[in-house]
Amino acid sequence: MKTPSLTRRGILAVAASTGAAALLAQPTGLIDTARGSANSNCDPHASITPYGTNQAGITTNAPEHLQLAGFDLVPGTTREQLIALLQTWHEAIGLLTKGLPMPDAGAPDVAPADTGEALSQSADRLTITIGFGPSLFDSRFGLTGLRPEALVDLPAFTGDALDPTASDGDLCLQCCAETRLVAEHALRTLARLATGRATLRWTQSGFNELPTNPADGAGRNLMGFKDGTANLNPNDPTRMARNVWVDPSDGAAWLAGGTYLVYRRVFAKLREWDESVLSEQEDVFGRRRATGAPFGGTRENDPVRSELMPVTAHIRLANPRTGQDSEDERVFRRGFSFHDGLDTTGEYNAGLVFISFQRDARRQFIPLQTRLAASDALNEYITHTASAIFVIPPGTTAAGYIGETLLGAAPPRTTTPNPAADLRTPTVPGAPAAPAKPAAPSAPRAPGATPEAPRQVPRPKATKAKLKRKKAR
Ligand code: HEM
Repeated sequence: MKTPSLTRRGILAVAASTGAAALLAQPTGLIDTARGSANSNCDPHASITPYGTNQAGITTNAPEHLQLAGFDLVPGTTREQLIALLQTWHEAIGLLTKGLPMPDAGAPDVAPADTGEALSQSADRLTITIGFGPSLFDSRFGLTGLRPEALVDLPAFTGDALDPTASDGDLCLQCCAETRLVAEHALRTLARLATGRATLRWTQSGFNELPTNPADGAGRNLMGFKDGTANLNPNDPTRMARNVWVDPSDGAAWLAGGTYLVYRRVFAKLREWDESVLSEQEDVFGRRRATGAPFGGTRENDPVRSELMPVTAHIRLANPRTGQDSEDERVFRRGFSFHDGLDTTGEYNAGLVFISFQRDARRQFIPLQTRLAASDALNEYITHTASAIFVIPPGTTAAGYIGETLLGAAPPRTTTPNPAADLRTPTVPGAPAAPAKPAAPSAPRAPGATPEAPRQVPRPKATKAKLKRKKAR
């Protein structure tokens, strides 16, 4: 049974009658659930805590909707402004993941702080994961010496046809939720809060559907096969520590508890695939389409016997099962399907938003994709069209912000000037940098310290022309 949750609309009604400050003091009626647990037991409207040792959205069960985005920082943005942006995002994420709207007093002559599309939804298991691209570690923010060795630029792989405008980025946001509106609203809100500091470079949406019958195992991708069967178990902390979470012994002390996200947009020639015969489709993957069973087995989770499938079969190449080495190489996949209409040739612009998390792409994703790019039978039907790698900093408390271990404690927040207001000072690309705020003494926040109440984000006033038009109506 679904847990009744207070929707954003209900919360706004409270706001209208009591004012935004009172709103923030309202008990939300939402439940902060743990991140994991079996999909079938998940309340699709629950609130997932954004605080913890690791960021949410990695071992959290993948929900139905994804909004992934890469951002570029606006030229001239200072380190202090980058910290202020990450802090503002962190505060907004605290609200969004509780299903709360961006607060304002609802004045009719200002643009609403909240864009409104998710007002009728609850938290809907929203998670937001923040990542930093290799370019963030160039000379702009004094981070060059802190770039982890494992944060390599991905090499060009055989067959790549990458669109650079849909790849890479200084920052990334992975917004996942059970409803599309909530995932979209999260990305749109955070992009809006970044105005003047960071611009969207690319976005990519994705979706997943669980089988109607949960006993049916993994969900299917658009090529009709069960996807995720042989994935790592996110609820196995020993396995996650071995293959996903960065350990202090890996070199970059600031990254302990973090990981690396690799994104590949994989276009699939669905029309050609649909006309290929079943035996060929099964040879491509090394699994039976109906059951997901590997060759030689009858059930999805039967052991994989590589010797029974073609040497070019996707799963044989993806996991050679040679013992310790291939176990260490395994990545944690958290992919989504995408379908973005038709391309210019009339082909479905569809495929897989491949996302994997790993401890070190140099010994995990890169050798894996090198093998697949060279010999995977699937290559006849797919093309990688976008790519990115991001380092995912560890999680934090309500009082911290994502990236704090890299960039240092944020200057203490005062009620004025409002850092969100500071974010709204438009910066023209190429214009001289806005003068940096005087360096405030950096006071580390005590872990677990009481979080400040999120401030109201001031909205630009309606223009005179707009007000005139309104009066004339
Ligand atoms: C359109 C692109 C792709 C499709 C349709 C696809 C589909 C599948 C399917 C159906 C399976 C078998 C079920 C399972 O164990 O999850 C699988 C397994 C796997 N795939 Fe892919 N995949 C794609 C791209 C990739 C890419 C780009 C990578 C990594 C570079 C990758 C890595 C893996 C791995 C590691 C496994 C598990 C192998 C095992 O341990 O048995 N896949 N994929």
